[in-house]
Amino acid sequence: MKNIILIGFMGTGKTSTGRLLASRLGYSFIDTDYKIEQLAKLTISEMFVQYGEGYFREREAEMIRRVSRYRQAVISTGGGVVLNQENMKYLRNSGVVIALQASVNTILERTSRRQSRPLLENEDRSQAVFGLMESRRALYQKADLCIDTSDLTPRQVVEKIIDWLKKAGVVRA
Ligand code: S3P
Repeated sequence: MKNIILIGFMGTGKTSTGRLLASRLGYSFIDTDYKIEQLAKLTISEMFVQYGEGYFREREAEMIRRVSRYRQAVISTGGGVVLNQENMKYLRNSGVVIALQASVNTILERTSRRQSRPLLENEDRSQAVFGLMESRRALYQKADLCIDTSDLTPRQVVEKIIDWLKKAGVVRA
């Protein structure tokens, strides 16, 4: 059985949607950022501060290789996973890739609650979100399916994904 992989910018709802989708399909749920933190015994913010972004990206690439071997899992990834072509090659081979999108304002609002995203701990957060989003837009759009989650609840996003998965023959109708 193919995996279902969620990619997308920070704050697009990958974790909440992924967890719900997995429980609806009876798949296991994997959050790569969470697994990286567990393995390193450090938070991502701590990793960035102590060892730099490059170190985190290496841990991320190792984790992607590892979870790509799983089956029947919903895999929620970190927003920067698309920056490494090899990550995307592994993920594509392991299942279908779904990109969640959202407007800059939605992302700013959703990411304002927790200070766990080092790339947004910036004086001008809206400029940081806008710039990063623009530089990655084309990479996210290579997904098999793109969904704008700005005005949708995780439940509604899950319904859309399941409809599409049935039509695409990935899960049984
Ligand atoms: C990152 C997104 C984060 C996390 C790290 C880097 C990025 O994950 O992997 O802070 O480069 O966009 P979320 O998308 O789950 O916030």
